[in-house]
Amino acid sequence: MDNQQKEVCDNLQNDKDKKNCQQEEQNKADKNMSDETEDQIKNNVKQRYGEICDSISQSGGCCSQTGCGTIDYAVFAENYEKQQGYIPEADLGLGCGIPTEFAEIKKGDIVLDLGSGAGNDCFIARALVGDTGKVIGVDMTPNMIRKAQLNSDKYNFRNVEFRYGDITELPILDNFIDVVISNCVINLVPDKKKVFQEIKRVLKSNGHFSISDVLATGDLPLAIREASELHICGLSGALRKDIYLKQLEEIGFTQIQIKKEKIIEIPDDVILQHVSQEVFQEFKKSGTKILSATLIAKKQ
Ligand SMILES: C[S@@+](CC[C@H](N)C(=O)[O-])C[C@H]1O[C@@H](n2cnc3c(N)ncnc32)[C@H](O)[C@@H]1O
Repeated sequence: MDNQQKEVCDNLQNDKDKKNCQQEEQNKADKNMSDETEDQIKNNVKQRYGEICDSISQSGGCCSQTGCGTIDYAVFAENYEKQQGYIPEADLGLGCGIPTEFAEIKKGDIVLDLGSGAGNDCFIARALVGDTGKVIGVDMTPNMIRKAQLNSDKYNFRNVEFRYGDITELPILDNFIDVVISNCVINLVPDKKKVFQEIKRVLKSNGHFSISDVLATGDLPLAIREASELHICGLSGALRKDIYLKQLEEIGFTQIQIKKEKIIEIPDDVILQHVSQEVFQEFKKSGTKILSATLIAKKQ
């Protein structure tokens, strides 16, 4: 609360009004602060994934070249080579599951991929929807959209479209999508509830999703949550599994199921590059594990 505003509140005669005024001003200040932090995180993610996109060679992991120290996304990523529709140029090794495995995509479906990167999962989905279906990828990093479009143009695909946009405000009509997929993206978004609400808005009734994401089995120390490089690596933004599932339920999704999960071992030296020994020990002592998980659910 700034001083001028504080004075306005303090000068109110009625104690209740004074208290309400102070509370409202504090809420406003908190909201601005959290909006600002959210924007900072988003801009950082956008910048870093722009760099990652540019720097990844087809065979290399991302983070070794871009700042997460020695961590390679291979600790998260699955092998896609045997998937129908696989295009090596689109596989930047940035996923943490294979969401199409559990997405039950049918011929003719309209599929939406949240945070589509260079298009890896979109091209797998394209093979499943066939010529009568359509796949839309949304990503907020311009370099990723460009790369995905180049990949699509190279194969002359006509039913794959890449849209620039934020998955918290999807550039998609209401009730338009049969299946939503996403791979290792929602952990990067500070307000996951907004993403879940958007998924619900764009899905047709009886539509469903399959999402691969990074989750945590317990709380993470604040210093880990605030380490921006660990955020890019997928660690800091990992929400507690029970909270993640509860949020989905609260938004009204049904038949929520975890289809696959595995513990991700993030090398100690990677974490230690970004937090103090003390915080690292706190994290180790807490026993919190980082998981990659693929979840499905339905909109009624
Ligand atoms: C870890 S990469 C995964 C890319 C892709 N899903 C894959 O598996 O190859 C995360 C992607 O999510 C995008 N992203 C992160 N936050 C986003 C947001 N709020 N809206 C749209 N895209 C976002 C990034 O630009 C990046 O391309």
